Amino acid sequence: MIKIDNLSKYFGPTKAVDGISFDIKEGELFGLLGPNGAGKTTTIRMIATLIPQTSGTIEVNGYSIPKQSEIVRNFIGYVPQALSSDGSLTGYENLLIFAKLVGLNKKEREEKIKELASLMGMENVLNKLVRDYSGGMVRKLEIAQSLLHYPKILLLDEPTIGLDPIARRSVWEILEKLKANYDVTTLMSTHYMEEAEMLCDRLAIMDRGHIVAIGSPKELMEKTETNSLEQAFIALTGHEVEEGGNFRELRKVRRTARRLQ
Ligand SMILES: Nc1ncnc2c1ncn2[C@@H]1O[C@H](COP(=O)(O)OP(=O)(O)OP(=O)(O)O)[C@@H](O)[C@H]1O
Ligand SMILES: [Mg+2]
Repeated sequence: MIKIDNLSKYFGPTKAVDGISFDIKEGELFGLLGPNGAGKTTTIRMIATLIPQTSGTIEVNGYSIPKQSEIVRNFIGYVPQALSSDGSLTGYENLLIFAKLVGLNKKEREEKIKELASLMGMENVLNKLVRDYSGGMVRKLEIAQSLLHYPKILLLDEPTIGLDPIARRSVWEILEKLKANYDVTTLMSTHYMEEAEMLCDRLAIMDRGHIVAIGSPKELMEKTETNSLEQAFIALTGHEVEEGGNFRELRKVRRTARRLQ
């Protein structure tokens, strides 16, 4: 469904993504796991057709980016790392705007909003202002927004960053439901080891613009003869996931958490 070959993105002298290759199969939940600055967001933005690559090829469902980006946009859903819903509107109004943007007619809008609200377990808060939502509920609303046009592929950039453990779990449940009941292929980024281990069918461990290993969590542990993804990560990269960029990380988590409050 997604084929990436020797993909790079340079920002001036910074090699944000430096020659990565991976394939994602239809129906897979694939993770990009890596610390701050690994290149996860840059990779997702290129696949979301938002920034052009410096070199290398991206194919999504047989269409190549950037040449056929307009076609690709029809079947991808994207939830950015930062906030993408409007706190001064209700959940229903946010969904309605997105539904209109993607061209659903009145009947389709009503049906799809009802279906997604039920999937997210947010029927009771649909008419409340989003600024009064919990962080987990905001993320679920944003995932719902990205699903209104029935995308084949969902791109999620750190869907649980800044959430408490309970809210995080509720987002995992949604991703599992989507995988089980909808025909969606998901690419998500995370720097939470536990999340990658629990959710992802396969993952690519990214570090400083490179992919250091690809496989299922089990394969990565076997390959490194370790008992957890965290140990596997250290064995593969020579450092812990938190190392470096702590300040940036904290600042970002707090900024996201504050916006979600
Ligand atoms: N627009 C930009 N201009 C210049 N440098 C950038 C830009 N976007 C990203 N970078 C740099 O590219 C590198 C990779 O950044 P990226 O945001 O892709 O990492 P990430 O894995 O998503 O990290 P995080 O966990 O912090 O979200 C970093 O060194 C970052 O500073
Ligand atoms: Mg990022």
